[in-house]
Amino acid sequence: MSAQITGCGPGAEALLAALHAQCFAECWSEAEMAGLLASPGVSALILEDEDGPAALALIRVVLDEAELLTLGVLPDRRARGHGITLLRAAEAEARQAGAARLFLEVSHVNAPAAGLYARAGYRQVGRRKRYYRDGSDARVLARNLE
Ligand SMILES: CC(C)(COP(=O)(O)OP(=O)(O)OC[C@H]1O[C@@H](n2cnc3c(N)ncnc32)[C@H](O)[C@@H]1OP(=O)(O)O)[C@@H](O)C(=O)NCCC(=O)NCCS
Repeated sequence: MSAQITGCGPGAEALLAALHAQCFAECWSEAEMAGLLASPGVSALILEDEDGPAALALIRVVLDEAELLTLGVLPDRRARGHGITLLRAAEAEARQAGAARLFLEVSHVNAPAAGLYARAGYRQVGRRKRYYRDGSDARVLARNLE
């Protein structure tokens, strides 16, 4: 089976939180996920491969701008194209909701994510000094959605 992507809403917070916890050191609780899913403009996507759920993405769309709130692939399912497949699906979802541009923040020490976003056509539009708890800066990246 090739990767399948499905949108999910309220009720999916436990799965989303479990996926997020395996992808990030600072994870979001089920309650935080539920709050996000109930927020205006927020959509969540899950990518499944032949071994089950493998990746998650959340976006928020406000008027013609979208923000990628999170994107993560389970550690043992990386380097198979899931990250870029899910990013493209999140972009399509954002476009469908009316967004013309997608913004995201990424730590300046996160090399895999930097590689992914550069390959996907994102350019740096700003920097927030010492934004993350580990003291790293956030690079603000953006891409126009055709
Ligand atoms: C960043 C992340 C989502 C990439 O997911 P992935 O499924 O491994 O990425 P893909 O297989 O789709 O790779 C797509 C492109 O990203 C880049 N890339 C992926 N992993 C990389 C790495 N370790 N080093 C450098 N570039 C990398 C490459 O350009 C790659 O294209 P290529 O395979 O043709 O070289 C994944 O490493 C992850 O979940 N990391 C932890 C969470 C995180 O940091 N999320 C981003 C927060 S902003």
